[in-house]
Amino acid sequence: MNAQYRHWRYETDQDRLVWLTFDKAGESTNTFSADAITELNAILQEIRAATPRGLIIRSGKSSGFIAGADIKDFAAAQSVEDGMAIIRRGWDMFHAVAALPFPTVAMVNGFCMGGGVELALACRYRVALDDPKTRFALPEVMLGILPAWGGIKYLPKLVGPTVALDMLLSGKSVDARKAKRIGLVDACVPLRVLENAARMTALEARSPHQPPLMQRLMNTAPFKSVVAAMARKQVAKRAAREHYPAPYVILDLWARYDGDPFAPPLSDPASPAALMQGETVKNLIRIYFLQERMKGLGKAGDFAAKHVHVIGAGVMGGDIAALCAMRGLRVTLQDQNAERLEPAMQRAGKMFRRRLRDQARLRDALDRLVPDVAGDGVKKADLIIEAIFENLEAKRALFARLEKDARPDAILASNTSSLKLADIGANLANPGRLVGIHFFNPVAQMMLVEVVAGANTEPSIANRAAAFVRQLDKLPLPVRDSPGFLVNRVLGPYLNQAFRMVEEGLSAETVDAAATRFGMPMGPIELADTVGLDICIAAGKSLAAASAAAGQPATVPKQLEQLVAAGHLGKKTGRGYYAWREGKAVKGAPGAVPEELIERLIAPYLKEAQAALAEGVVADADLADAGLIFGTGFAPFRGGPLNYLKNRET
Ligand code: NAI
Repeated sequence: MNAQYRHWRYETDQDRLVWLTFDKAGESTNTFSADAITELNAILQEIRAATPRGLIIRSGKSSGFIAGADIKDFAAAQSVEDGMAIIRRGWDMFHAVAALPFPTVAMVNGFCMGGGVELALACRYRVALDDPKTRFALPEVMLGILPAWGGIKYLPKLVGPTVALDMLLSGKSVDARKAKRIGLVDACVPLRVLENAARMTALEARSPHQPPLMQRLMNTAPFKSVVAAMARKQVAKRAAREHYPAPYVILDLWARYDGDPFAPPLSDPASPAALMQGETVKNLIRIYFLQERMKGLGKAGDFAAKHVHVIGAGVMGGDIAALCAMRGLRVTLQDQNAERLEPAMQRAGKMFRRRLRDQARLRDALDRLVPDVAGDGVKKADLIIEAIFENLEAKRALFARLEKDARPDAILASNTSSLKLADIGANLANPGRLVGIHFFNPVAQMMLVEVVAGANTEPSIANRAAAFVRQLDKLPLPVRDSPGFLVNRVLGPYLNQAFRMVEEGLSAETVDAAATRFGMPMGPIELADTVGLDICIAAGKSLAAASAAAGQPATVPKQLEQLVAAGHLGKKTGRGYYAWREGKAVKGAPGAVPEELIERLIAPYLKEAQAALAEGVVADADLADAGLIFGTGFAPFRGGPLNYLKNRET
């Protein structure tokens, strides 16, 4: 009866409940493109006319519910009018659902993002599948836009402003259980009863959820401006309005116009139009697509690791092993003796407890991570990651043994940050199976992983390594085997410049302020202290050696050498350029930061990014930008260093 629809189908059951299924034609994920919304509007009129007892909206995809609006539509919007038309489309759809005169239920079976959450909010009730993959988020703010299809208006009314603003301003997701706790969903149930729970919710038609009284009060006029002012202060600590206007517009729109995107005039700073003119949205959307491209790089290798063996349970190896176990892989972790393994196992336990609140999942992750002093895992693993000391001879000796003992099809990987992969694999019978999988510290937080292809690495092995990186939900960046790869190579001259500026007499605070003013998430001196000054000096020396070999000798800054000699290694020893207390740098006020100071600090970074690209360390400018944004935090709203240079020229 509804064959004319491509993306939606519905049927009516014996209880006179309509089951409306969103199943986007030709795609694995449901997104609200213009045609999907047009169809929905037409269907809603039909359903409304049929006066059913209730409506349940569900997804035809096993992967999840709805991923949100189609971002391609935003990217294609050329003008404020185009942008406002997209908002109008979703806003009208939202209200068409909300105005239905019978009970409506969103049955959420996995991720539910952006416009998906807004559709769910438009329903009277929400029922969620109790599964870790069920997550709710309004990530618009991360793209520099705002959830203007009803999210800003209705989420605070449903769950109260405290949690709502947290979700709206951070883009963070909540899982199904948390969604139940905060009142975002009415039920959180296992798969076998999901449909029944949705059915019963529609049939029972209880009075809809209300947040606690205090939260309801916070949603009324006199309190709203106070709440918004407090939230604005928090936002200001993280992002300047000139760089990231979206969270400010969200707050203004909520506090002054009750989240109605059409209430303010287009010239008002609370209007979504305020976001549509700047470069930020364009650049953040660009980053989104770059991220998608990097995810795609993992698809070239048809590979899924089941058992990973990690050798070296230090800072890196320990955390790599923990991450693999958390992501469902069986992991054996080897070091020279049990004492060396102990701290890594402790850290892993802590991370699992923090990230996997569910007892059963916690136990499973702990079971999957096996300490293995004897190295029994070598024979069984399909991927072996070496993360031992940065010493060429030790690594060579280790890989010579591994080549004999490992399965012939196992991938051999090194986490080296400064040695040449070709040197490590020089004596192997088959150096083609050796690849660099270069994680960054801290492993759990850093999204980027460089996949290093040495001169001999077989392309299929590098592709499999990228697939493995995706298994861990990280972003793989293919790079060439050259000193510092991409990220450390570009960071080197930038940090060096910062050290020199401090040596010239500027305070560390002033230099760091210059970087954050530019839009870096953290200043270079604080970054160096965080990474460890000993690590910086080692990385600096190996880069200096490489540039000396290329006829451009570079020296290590004196003050840096003195600090390291005195044992002041930064955060980990409580003192570096800064004194550190309770994990935070103790900082004084910065001095004046004139524009030319910022330029002088950033110039070596930009120059090195161009040089790395010109030498083919990465395949193209987009990948260089992506790598440097995800690997060094380069001011995301500027869309990457090369994009920034290009825009600056025009
Ligand atoms: P670490 O010094 O914290 O840990 C190294 C571990 O390897 C120690 O526990 C040691 O007992 C063990 N080990 C040494 N030789 C061994 C052998 N033959 N068999 C078994 N275990 C052995 O070192 P870290 O910092 O974790 O670095 C490891 C590797 O990761 C290095 O190649 C380094 O360049 C690289 N890396 C380090 C980063 C960092 O920020 N620390 C960042 C990215 C890469």
